[in-house]
Amino acid sequence: MRSAENGKFRLTRRDFVRGAATTAGGLALAPLFLSGRFPASGAFPQTLRIGIIGSGRIGGAVGTQWARAGHEILFSSRHPEALAELVEGAGPSTRAGLPAEAAAFGEIVLVAVPYAALPQVGQDHAPAMRGKIVIDCGNPYPDRDGPMAAEALAMGTGVASAQYLADVRLVRAFNAINYRSVESEAHRAGEKVGIPLAGDDDEAIRAVSQLVTDAGFDPVVVGPLSRAREFDQGSAVYVTDMTAAQLREELGLA
Ligand SMILES: NC(=O)c1ccc[n+]([C@@H]2O[C@H](COP(=O)([O-])OP(=O)(O)OC[C@H]3O[C@@H](n4cnc5c(N)ncnc54)[C@H](OP(=O)(O)O)[C@@H]3O)[C@@H](O)[C@H]2O)c1
Repeated sequence: MRSAENGKFRLTRRDFVRGAATTAGGLALAPLFLSGRFPASGAFPQTLRIGIIGSGRIGGAVGTQWARAGHEILFSSRHPEALAELVEGAGPSTRAGLPAEAAAFGEIVLVAVPYAALPQVGQDHAPAMRGKIVIDCGNPYPDRDGPMAAEALAMGTGVASAQYLADVRLVRAFNAINYRSVESEAHRAGEKVGIPLAGDDDEAIRAVSQLVTDAGFDPVVVGPLSRAREFDQGSAVYVTDMTAAQLREELGLA
């Protein structure tokens, strides 16, 4: 899959055969269905292509950990030239591009934008993300994001985000940890920090659990999207850096 080019990777013909396609304008919007790629038992793919929409504090920190674990990361911004330092620090398996490129590139897409931007991001990139595993780590803050954030909190982000990110295999994860903890606590010795996650698709849950491990944390599967509210901002476990055991106890999980 990887093809060296000035120390960076580039897409190869095989990548396109696997799901993307090109047009004169660049990456087109052929959906990539991943069913069966993350089996309940057996080996997981060791290298994944991950597109990141919103490469700020949390998107940058998580993507950097994934790059260190060997994944290929396309960090995106509406101003990709501003990501030079991030890409330099995250290493040769990363590059910068536009959000549309990240949506098309990723076998898995992390959406890490202010919650108020989620409806637009979901709409703009719906064709490219359709059927893909999409991780949403946004947190609604009414002071920052307006009335839609209060509505999202009232219904729970798992339910709210699914309305904005339609036709994807949505997993809520990485919203309840501060980016500084991602940087400082990843792969720490002893009991790791737990990352709660929720989703309705078993295979997506397995894939994201693996990515939580790859980032240096312990996955704690809370349940379906309807239970994502249990680790929303304002909950007892939000940005507490609890271990997996502490999270399970607090959330009443077996
Ligand atoms: N900071 C944390 O520790 C943390 C932890 C967990 C979850 N979160 C949540 O994750 C989300 C992002 O937080 P953050 O702190 O990483 O924010 P941030 O540092 O401001 O980064 C957000 C990024 O989103 C991009 N963005 C904004 N509007 C966009 C749009 N319409 N389309 C595409 N990209 C857009 C911006 O990229 P460009 O302007 O470069 O395009 C920006 O770099 C928030 O919902 C936050 O609550 C944050």
